[in-house]
Amino acid sequence: MRSLDCGSAVLTAEYGIRIGRWTQYPEAAKLPFDAMWCVVGPGSSSVRDCHPEVELAVVVTGRAEFEVEGAGTTAAPTGTAVLLDPQERHVIHNRSQTDPLTVLSIYWLPDGDTADEGAADGNAADGDTATGTAATGTAADGGRS
Ligand code: NI
Repeated sequence: MRSLDCGSAVLTAEYGIRIGRWTQYPEAAKLPFDAMWCVVGPGSSSVRDCHPEVELAVVVTGRAEFEVEGAGTTAAPTGTAVLLDPQERHVIHNRSQTDPLTVLSIYWLPDGDTADEGAADGNAADGDTATGTAATGTAADGGRS
């Protein structure tokens, strides 16, 4: 057993928020999915995201608001899991001005897709904010949430 703690994870600035990729954990290389911690500061939002992977986003601290293009917004308090279909364009908001928000994002390509396809056509395509270039840089390491 291994306990993975967001509080001690290495976080980097990506997508307008702070990201802790599970590639930092040696054990994660063997898992059939990718994952990342997403830390959204008070009053902050991620950049718009769109990718070929299915994404299961679990709110572990704070209260998220998920905005999905064409589907409006959904409040997601601590303990909520949000399942996003491939190519659903989404943003994570932390509307609190005081409380941090941490989401564990778990993502994988649906059956029939390959990891190569995911890396190629995922992630960088969005780019509707200035930080879109950050997404371009990260797509190469095997997809994202
Ligand atoms: Ni995503």
